[in-house]
Amino acid sequence: MPKRVSKPVFVQLLLPYVGRFWFIYFCLALVLLAGIADGLLFTWFFQTITNAAVSGDESTVRTYFALGSILVIVMMTVQYMNMYLESLATSKVKTSLANDLFAHLIKLPTRYYTSHHSGDLVARMTQDVGQIGGAIGGNLLSLIRQPLWAAASFAYLVTIHPPLALIALMLGPLTAVLAHSFGRLMRRNGRHIQELTGKQTEYVNDSFAGHLVIRAFGLESDRSRGFRRQNDRLRGLQLKEGRLKAGLQAGSTGISIAAQIIVLGIGSLLIVRQELSIGELVAFISLTQGLIGPFSSMAGTWAGFQRSLAAAERIFQVMREPAAIQAPSAATDSAPALTDGIRYENVSFAYDTNRTILKHFDLYIPAGKTVAFVGPSGAGKSTVFNLTLGLYEVNAGMILIDGQRLGESADRKRNYLSLVPQETFLFSGSIRSNIALGRSGATDEDITQAAIAAEAHRFIMELPQGYETEVGERGIRLSGGQKQKISIARALLRNAPVLLLDEATSALDSESEASIQRALRTLMQNRTTLVIAHRLSTVLDVDLIVVMDQGRIAEMGNHLQLLEQGGLYASMFAIQYREYMKAPAVQDLV
Ligand SMILES: Nc1ncnc2c1ncn2[C@@H]1O[C@H](COP(=O)(O)OP(=O)(O)OP(=O)(O)O)[C@@H](O)[C@H]1O
Ligand SMILES: [Mg+2]
Repeated sequence: MPKRVSKPVFVQLLLPYVGRFWFIYFCLALVLLAGIADGLLFTWFFQTITNAAVSGDESTVRTYFALGSILVIVMMTVQYMNMYLESLATSKVKTSLANDLFAHLIKLPTRYYTSHHSGDLVARMTQDVGQIGGAIGGNLLSLIRQPLWAAASFAYLVTIHPPLALIALMLGPLTAVLAHSFGRLMRRNGRHIQELTGKQTEYVNDSFAGHLVIRAFGLESDRSRGFRRQNDRLRGLQLKEGRLKAGLQAGSTGISIAAQIIVLGIGSLLIVRQELSIGELVAFISLTQGLIGPFSSMAGTWAGFQRSLAAAERIFQVMREPAAIQAPSAATDSAPALTDGIRYENVSFAYDTNRTILKHFDLYIPAGKTVAFVGPSGAGKSTVFNLTLGLYEVNAGMILIDGQRLGESADRKRNYLSLVPQETFLFSGSIRSNIALGRSGATDEDITQAAIAAEAHRFIMELPQGYETEVGERGIRLSGGQKQKISIARALLRNAPVLLLDEATSALDSESEASIQRALRTLMQNRTTLVIAHRLSTVLDVDLIVVMDQGRIAEMGNHLQLLEQGGLYASMFAIQYREYMKAPAVQDLV
C-alpha cells in the first residue's frame, strides 16, 4: 500500500501551486459541473424521447432529436475543454515546481550532495515531478467528479423510482470491495515492479558507464546474464499484473452487466405493473453505470492520488532543506586583491560527527604569497580547500579572508577564490564553453589567453574543431592531462585574487608541468596562491610549505628549513629524490 501521506504535503507544497493557477482550476470546476449537468440532460433526453415514441407523439420526437444533437456538441466541448484545461494546469504546475526544485537543489549544501546519490536526486527531478500530475490533475478532479456524478445519478433516479434506485445503489459497495481487494494486490505488485525497474536502470547505467572495465575484464557475458535474470523476474511480475488487471476487469464487467440485468428485470416487471414508463427504464439503465461506476474507480483514483502525494512528499523533503547559498553568485572579476590575507584560527572540522578531520588548525597566509600544502593521502589537504571555499561549516574556530569571516556571506567570498579541483569535471559541450564557465562575459580573446597560460592552446588548435570541439560526457573524448589543462584555463580565466590548486598538474607530463608553472608564476605575482602537491619538486620555491599529517600541521617552513628539521618533509623528500636518482639513465636502457 502506498505510504499514507499527511494532508500538509498537499496543503503546504501543492496548494500554493494550484493557487498560482487558480483561474485554470476555476474553469476546470465549471467544466466539471457542465459535464455532470450535460450527463443528466442526456438521461432526461433518453427518457423523454422514448416516452414520446411509445406514446406515438411524432412532433416531440422530432424536436428532441434536434435537441439531442446540441447535447452531443456540448458533451464534445466539455470533453475537449476538460482534457485541455487539465493538461494545461498539470503542465503549468509541474513546470514551475520543477523550476523551483532545480533552483533549490542547486543551492543545497555540499553535505547534501555527498550524502545523496546523484541518481536519487535525478529521480526526484524527473520521476517524482512527473508523478505529481496525479495529485494536481486527473486524480484530483476525479476525486471530486466521481462522487458528484454518483450522487447526481442517484438523486435523478430517486425522483423516478426510489426503491429501484436503492437496489441499483446497493450494487455499488460490491464493486468497491472488488476494486479495493484487487487494488491492494496490484499496488503491492506495482511496488515490486518499481523497485526492480529502479535496480535495472542502475544496472544498465553502470554497465554503460563502466564500459571500459567491462571490456578490460571480459565481463560482457556476465553482465548480460545479470540483465537477463533481472528481466525474467520483471516479466514474471508484469505477467502477474496482467492477470490481476484481467481479473478486476472481468469482475467489474460482471457486476456491471449483472446490475443492468437486475435493473432491467425488475424495471420490466414494474412496467408490466404499470409502475414505471419505458422511458424511465431507459433512464435507469443509462444511469446505473453512472451510479455504480464511481464505486469501482474511486479505489484506483484514491490509490493514484496517494501515490502522487508520496512523490510530492519526496519533493517536499528536498524543498524543506535549507539552502546553503542565498543568491547564486555569477563569476565576476570584481573582487579586489587581498590586503591582509587568509587566516585559519583554531579551526576544527569533522565531516561525520565521530571522526574529526582537522584539529586546531592555525595558519596565516599573508596576501600575495604562495603556500604549498603537502603530506600523506588523507591528511586533510583537500579538506582545507573545501573549508576555504565555504563548502562546509567549520565546527570550531573561523576562517577569515581579508578579515571577513567566511560563511557569513559565503557567496560574496567565493568571488575571491578560483579553484582547480583535484578531480577535473568538464560539462558536456565545447572546450570553449567549458573554459568560459570561469567568468561570465569573458571574450574569446580572454579565453584564448587563459588557454595559452594553461598550456592548452596548442593541443586545442590541433583538434579538427579547435575550441568548438565537443568534450563528450565528463570530457570523455579528451586525455586526462588535456582535461586538467582546460580546468586550469577555466580557473585562470576567473582571474580571482586567490587561486586554489589541488594537484592541478598531477596528470601532466613534466614538460607541460614546468611550463604551466612558469605561466602560473607570472599570474601568481599579485595573487595569493594555495597549492596542494604530492610531487615535492613542484613546490621547492614557494614562500611557505605546510606539511600536514592526520589533520594537523606537522611542520612549516621553506624547503631548506624543512630539510634541516629532518622531519616528515625531509623523509618524504628523501624518498622522492632517491627514486628519482634510482631511475636508470636513458643511456643505460638503450
Ligand atoms: N565528504 C566526505 N565525507 C566524509 N569523509 C571525508 C569526505 N571527504 C574526505 N573525507 C575524509 O577526510 C580525510 C581527509 O581527506 P582529504 O580529501 O582532505 O585528504 P587529502 O589530504 O586531500 O588526501 P589526498 O592527498 O589523497 O587527496 C580522509 O580521511 C577522508 O576519508
Ligand atoms: Mg586531496
